[in-house]
Amino acid sequence: MNEIVRKDFPNLERVIDGKKLCYLDNASTSQRPKKVVDATIKYYTQMNANVHRGVYHLSQEATDAFESVRGKIERFIGASSEREIIFTKGTTESINLIASSYGEHHINKGDVIAVTRMEHHANFVPWQQLAKRKGARFEIIELTSDLRLDPKEVDRVLALRPKIVAVSLLSNVTGVVNPISSLAARFKMVGSVVVVDAAQGIAHGEVTIERLGPIDFLAFSSHKLCGPTGVGILWGREALLEKMPPYQVGGNMISHVGDFDSEWNELPHKFEAGTPDIAGVIGFGAAIDYIETQGRVRIESYEAKITEYVLDELKNVPGVRLLGPAEVHHRAPIFSVAIEGVHAHDLATFLDMQGISVRAGHHCAHPLMMKLGLPATCRASFSFYNNMEEAAIFIQALKDSQVFFARKVKPTPITQAQGKRGIV
Ligand code: ALA
Repeated sequence: MNEIVRKDFPNLERVIDGKKLCYLDNASTSQRPKKVVDATIKYYTQMNANVHRGVYHLSQEATDAFESVRGKIERFIGASSEREIIFTKGTTESINLIASSYGEHHINKGDVIAVTRMEHHANFVPWQQLAKRKGARFEIIELTSDLRLDPKEVDRVLALRPKIVAVSLLSNVTGVVNPISSLAARFKMVGSVVVVDAAQGIAHGEVTIERLGPIDFLAFSSHKLCGPTGVGILWGREALLEKMPPYQVGGNMISHVGDFDSEWNELPHKFEAGTPDIAGVIGFGAAIDYIETQGRVRIESYEAKITEYVLDELKNVPGVRLLGPAEVHHRAPIFSVAIEGVHAHDLATFLDMQGISVRAGHHCAHPLMMKLGLPATCRASFSFYNNMEEAAIFIQALKDSQVFFARKVKPTPITQAQGKRGIV
């Protein structure tokens, strides 16, 4: 799909140290198409004013542009109302909001809060700390040897009837996709509130409330979906949001402030204290339009081809350990690899020398990495604008790295043409 698509992303044209950029760090943050950048510039240059505060024309234009994005998000995820869409500064803030507002008021001593072993810190630490503050029991659903949720562990934790279960749609370390709708259905039967972290998932398929099943909260960020940084979404069921107290207090989120007490604005503004990232939200609206134009189903099936190719090719790279399952249907195109005796940062630096950008480290997932006994992995994560040529360059570079680290030969820079040889 993507030779035309790639032209929309000016950064993909970059050449660094004579090598064409091969950007494979999309799980950290995606690239932005020019339309998104243009939308933010348009706000700053043609309608710059605060929102929800002015009766003058410019402020109303800005408010309309800002609020129209709420409607876009509502339709994008199939929410029932714009009142359920809260702008935050990212997935992390969205989850902290739930833990602080819902969690603080509904969790009591002895209650069970459950997460999974594969959670990013953003969907782990807020729950761990809530449990600590409240004297609640913190349970971790463990994984199988191929790093998927262990069904026996799911049964064990279900039997504990957790008040809250927090699970990611897909792992930022292994790319494993979780069966959210069946999990949610089962946890609802025991009365759990189901929180889904879709920070990664939102970028790799058609994420809608209907497809996710009976979940209660959904969190994701703009910047992994071609939008600006600093903007996130919290979706929650209106009935729950209505009962929750504000997370932060200040301007915009009140309806009346008296000397000794205050009343809160209605949803969703109750949870949006202070001036938001107006340009960021407007840019996110442009990103949603862009993704809709590409088609989420089309993106998913294109990415499955990349995943299949990389999985197949990795089988022919001895010495490289791939974390997670080897079957395409369990995965998104996120590949964490480790090479015996080679530190992940050294491998990432070697790949960078070939023009390939990957992330090395613990990926904000200490609980998983500690369990695996790995200090770090090297992670390549693809997006719909990556092409097979780049996948081949990545595989070839992994092969070359083994020779390099064995100190048999000096590294040979990989050209795009060489990379092509690996395409099947
Ligand atoms: N959560 C982002 C990652 O996995 C930053 O890299």
